[in-house]
Amino acid sequence: MLSKEQNELFTRVGPGTPMGNLLRQFWVPAARSAKLEAGGAPLRVRLFGENFVAFRTPSGEAGFLEEACPHRGVSLALARNEDCGLRCIFHGWKIGMEGKVLEVPSEPVGSNLASKVRVRKIPVRDSGGVVWVWLGDGENPPQFPNFEFTELPLENVVIRKGILHSNWAGVLEGFLDSAHVTALHRSFLPAGKDNTGAFPGMMGDLAPRYEFTEQPYGFTANAARRWPDGTRVDRITEYVLPWYTYIPNNLPTRQTITVSVPLDDEWCTYWQFIWDQENPLNPDTIDIETGAGKNGPDPDDFYQPKYTAAEVWGQDRTKMGEGHFSGFNSIPLEDFAVQESQGAITDRTKEHLGVSDVAVIRMRRTLLDLMRDYQQGKLPAILQDELDYSKIWSVHKIVPPAEKTLA
Ligand code: FES
Ligand SMILES: [Fe+2]
Repeated sequence: MLSKEQNELFTRVGPGTPMGNLLRQFWVPAARSAKLEAGGAPLRVRLFGENFVAFRTPSGEAGFLEEACPHRGVSLALARNEDCGLRCIFHGWKIGMEGKVLEVPSEPVGSNLASKVRVRKIPVRDSGGVVWVWLGDGENPPQFPNFEFTELPLENVVIRKGILHSNWAGVLEGFLDSAHVTALHRSFLPAGKDNTGAFPGMMGDLAPRYEFTEQPYGFTANAARRWPDGTRVDRITEYVLPWYTYIPNNLPTRQTITVSVPLDDEWCTYWQFIWDQENPLNPDTIDIETGAGKNGPDPDDFYQPKYTAAEVWGQDRTKMGEGHFSGFNSIPLEDFAVQESQGAITDRTKEHLGVSDVAVIRMRRTLLDLMRDYQQGKLPAILQDELDYSKIWSVHKIVPPAEKTLA
């Protein structure tokens, strides 16, 4: 449970908010690289309650600017995409990649207005199939997170996302909550201990107990489940500050990072970064391989078909009558329904937490502590120290009873 004040601090991310200030110090996934065509239309992107445009110049470089033209606020989504920047169609001002006004053709020759206009300079990285931006204060972004997938061939990586009418923190809590997997997602899980597929053995124990290890990047959370015969199923999730979760997966060369990025206080983007160390991935069959049901085909909003709260998120009671637990067609659609149904900003003053919620509690405490430190001028260590993100790996493993004493 959080107090009303804590819940506000935890969830609000607009300009000037304490949590928004902290989160802006981290690199942010902003758009799929493939969505930006060289010389093509700029893409509107909303992050932390602010509006931006992402674009790719005719020569192929990714750029990111505030959406409003610094002259009189016309949307740069309307702009011409030219070499080295965007040209606003209203009066023809040209805004350069480096956050400078390059030309002001509506002013007399010799005008020095361009040099006086301040444009927000936003560092951009195009890596692993994702365009990342840094919206932090000052000139120097922290180390770029070199997740393993950013160092692999793009055919080994699937990048996709969904948009939720849900605050970012609630979605992150869902990623860290292992107990819901064997309830909400049970119709997609194998019932026995057959050690194949992505999530075997979990149905033997519906009440995982957590073990934690502090990490320089956040923490490791093992949600351990025990079968009556002593078999243990370890679900070892990695929480990486501030919004990344490595979801355990029994496929030995496969990983998934889930990310919850605020669009504003009430909406967020749920990203999935999926990669295979050895094999190319096919986005059309990937969900069948893991047994997670089928997502919609649009990699920019894979929650399809998508329903509203008024339609009870499209829950299929006939399917439930036939034995399906939740009445949804895929694991992400199940998550989508429960997340949105908690309300855009969950009222955490009314919740009743148990021992299966300790990973959620720990994440909240970690972020609120970092937020308070940052308010007092202390930058989180993860933003100052060098860290090899490419070595982080989550694990799902079944430990037979005979090995218990060796563990
Ligand atoms: S509003 Fe963009 S050039 Fe005038
Ligand atoms: Fe889930």
